[in-house]
Amino acid sequence: MRDYESENGIMMFGGMPVTDIAEKFGTPVYVTDEQRLRENYRNIYNAFAKNIDTKIHYACKANTNLAILTILAQEGCGIDAVSVGEVMTCLKAGFTPDKIIYTGVNVSNDELKAVTDLGVMINIDSISEMERLAKINTKLPVSFRITPGVGSGHSDKVITGKKGSKFGIPKDKVISTYLRAKELGFDIKGIHAHIGSGGQSVEPFMDMMEVLIDTVNELKENGIELEFIDMGGGIGVPYKLNEEEMDINDLAINLASMIKEETSIKTLILEPGRYIICDSTILLTKCVDVKDAESKKYVGVDAGLNTLIRPAMYDSYHYVTLGNKFGKACTAKYDVVGPICESGDFLAHERVLPDPQEGDIVAVYNAGAYGFSMSSNYNSRPLCAEVLVNMGEAELIRERETVEEQWRHQIIPKRLQ
Ligand code: LLP
Repeated sequence: MRDYESENGIMMFGGMPVTDIAEKFGTPVYVTDEQRLRENYRNIYNAFAKNIDTKIHYACKANTNLAILTILAQEGCGIDAVSVGEVMTCLKAGFTPDKIIYTGVNVSNDELKAVTDLGVMINIDSISEMERLAKINTKLPVSFRITPGVGSGHSDKVITGKKGSKFGIPKDKVISTYLRAKELGFDIKGIHAHIGSGGQSVEPFMDMMEVLIDTVNELKENGIELEFIDMGGGIGVPYKLNEEEMDINDLAINLASMIKEETSIKTLILEPGRYIICDSTILLTKCVDVKDAESKKYVGVDAGLNTLIRPAMYDSYHYVTLGNKFGKACTAKYDVVGPICESGDFLAHERVLPDPQEGDIVAVYNAGAYGFSMSSNYNSRPLCAEVLVNMGEAELIRERETVEEQWRHQIIPKRLQ
């Protein structure tokens, strides 16, 4: 896992003391290090591009902040989008339609129409979607998401590729679906699979690739030649201090050689979300309350499951530390808990911390992927701010929401007033 330097006992992030960032922008706040974001993109691109023609399509569901998207557009990255909202947001950030692949699930006709009107390629998820899309538009390039029968992920809730999954064309229907697509006049370009999110081992990716390759070759025998394989996202990152990182160079070499040796496919597409954004971002939250509850000690902070839902939703582990007492000797074990009125509202369980006090700044690591993007207004708490730091400079990239803004779409019928 990525760890940080400190100066005078204060954690440094992107060249700045975290206490300065918290002071200037308030808490809770998500803080992204621009240099790390760019490095992560370049790392994964270079690892694969050395071995095969590669296109990286950032899974923007992980974080759709316009400033972050703009940085990735500058890097030459593409986009994996799942909704018309994500497509529009990415177009606004400067991505051209040809850089975006839309992979929806249970997509309505209205959404299909909206996405195709924007000129974006569709990765078709079901036979129903294909038949409905045929009546709307067959001019844009398409690919198909298949269910590879292989799953991997940090939680059952994010495993997508197993047999029987709600995602993709079931394996036994893939060939007939492509043949039907050809009959309907679609411009068929590729094949896609996504096994799940946050997997830490290379093997499931290899197993998925085997299935994709067999399918590509069977399609070729049936007169359908594809240009690309899209292997989805799912590359995990370490969340614990001594956890090893997946060797993406090894993964790239293995996958690229399988493709090159066994098919005539020219291009490999990847859709990493977590790998690109996760460790570029921390969440800073303030300790507002310390409680000794007989059998347990609590550090009460101003971010709860409304700000970062991953611990409550998936039991995800996020490393936490006190940014203003960095590296200090720890005194006891605490649960780090938020302001939401549910017992399930926690950020971390049983962590040793150095004598937490009201006013301390708690840094939550690896908060970039599915952190802000899954945050909510539960308990009528405004969405928090986002900040970008770049070599010692910090800029606001999302203002903290106000309570008043939460009322803007609500209507009290006249008769009640
Ligand atoms: N491609 C497709 C089709 C996907 O469904 C996803 C993620 C990705 C790519 C990117 O996966 P990644 O590289 O980020 O693992 N909210 C959960 C993760 C849900 C992932 C959904 N799909 C979490 O906080 O762990």
